[in-house]
Amino acid sequence: MNLTATTPPPATLPRKCSYAPADWAALADFWHPVCYSSDLGGTKPLAVVLLDEELVLYRAGGRVVAAKDLCIHRGVPLSLGWLEGEEVVCAYHGFRYGADGQCTRIPAQPETPIPRKLCLQTVLAEERFGVVWVCLSRSPRQPLPDWPELEDPGLKQMRMPAALWKCSSARHVENFNDLAHLSWVHAGTFGNRDMPEVKNYDVEVAPTGIHFVFDYPRHSIEDYGRRGAVEFIRYTYDLTFPFYTRLRIGFPDGRNFVAYNLPSPRSARETNVMFRLTRDFDLEGPDDPSIALQTQVLSEDRPFVEAQRPEELPLDLSEEFHIRADRFSTCYRKALIDLGLGRDFSA
Ligand code: FES
Ligand SMILES: [Fe+2]
Repeated sequence: MNLTATTPPPATLPRKCSYAPADWAALADFWHPVCYSSDLGGTKPLAVVLLDEELVLYRAGGRVVAAKDLCIHRGVPLSLGWLEGEEVVCAYHGFRYGADGQCTRIPAQPETPIPRKLCLQTVLAEERFGVVWVCLSRSPRQPLPDWPELEDPGLKQMRMPAALWKCSSARHVENFNDLAHLSWVHAGTFGNRDMPEVKNYDVEVAPTGIHFVFDYPRHSIEDYGRRGAVEFIRYTYDLTFPFYTRLRIGFPDGRNFVAYNLPSPRSARETNVMFRLTRDFDLEGPDDPSIALQTQVLSEDRPFVEAQRPEELPLDLSEEFHIRADRFSTCYRKALIDLGLGRDFSA
């Protein structure tokens, strides 16, 4: 657990908010991933955008500090500044801020006491699974996902380069959890166009997420690249609301590959897609083959997801046509309504 020290202020809408206000407030109550842990380091603070909110991240006092990317002296982004020891220095007039966000020095008037209100607007930040998570509200609605494999040193641990997709995060989630597209969109890698039928499957909806299992007759990927024989692979999906899916791909010989889909909602129509990956085989081998295959699979998905219209995910089930194979999708849309998201939900 790695929380910022100060109590964050109540969440207020960002200046240029692309969400309906009620949808933004509902999403602000959740933890969201914003970058990899390894993105933080050196002497430069990191600028990120979450739910249209511009944030600055840096390490100080042994933890990650997240705050609005704004020096309240004259409104300059702190991400233009630099880190010195445990403090971040604003590049415009040199104000310094400590690990708790409090201003510690005003160089132009060094003898004058610094008022307490001269403090960054910090928000909750936590580092877990090699990822930095941020919650923009005071009290997260639910804890971080329960993903023990990502902290298991006995597994091969990997991550994909982040990629900015021009899509809503919820459309991205539905694609990642969609079964009927596998035989079509992924026919160039593992998809089996000769067996496109999606048999009935059960979907379990819990207060914190959605679970389902499906056996797919996919083409094996020999040496991570060549298409091989058809074999039934067990896909186990566990979504943590609102956007974060753990997909375990279980092979008939007992090997497991797990993909953790981390679509960070930058705005209503932009998603910074991150992935953590684990495998319990080829432990001493390089990351590259797993990364390359996953990159190829995602490049097959991306043109479809970015072209979907409306960009917003329609929560009103009458607005799109649903088939039996869409059982996850219909449950997901209903669940988002239960979480307080509206009919024009666009995250
Ligand atoms: S704007 Fe940051 S020190 Fe003046
Ligand atoms: Fe896909």
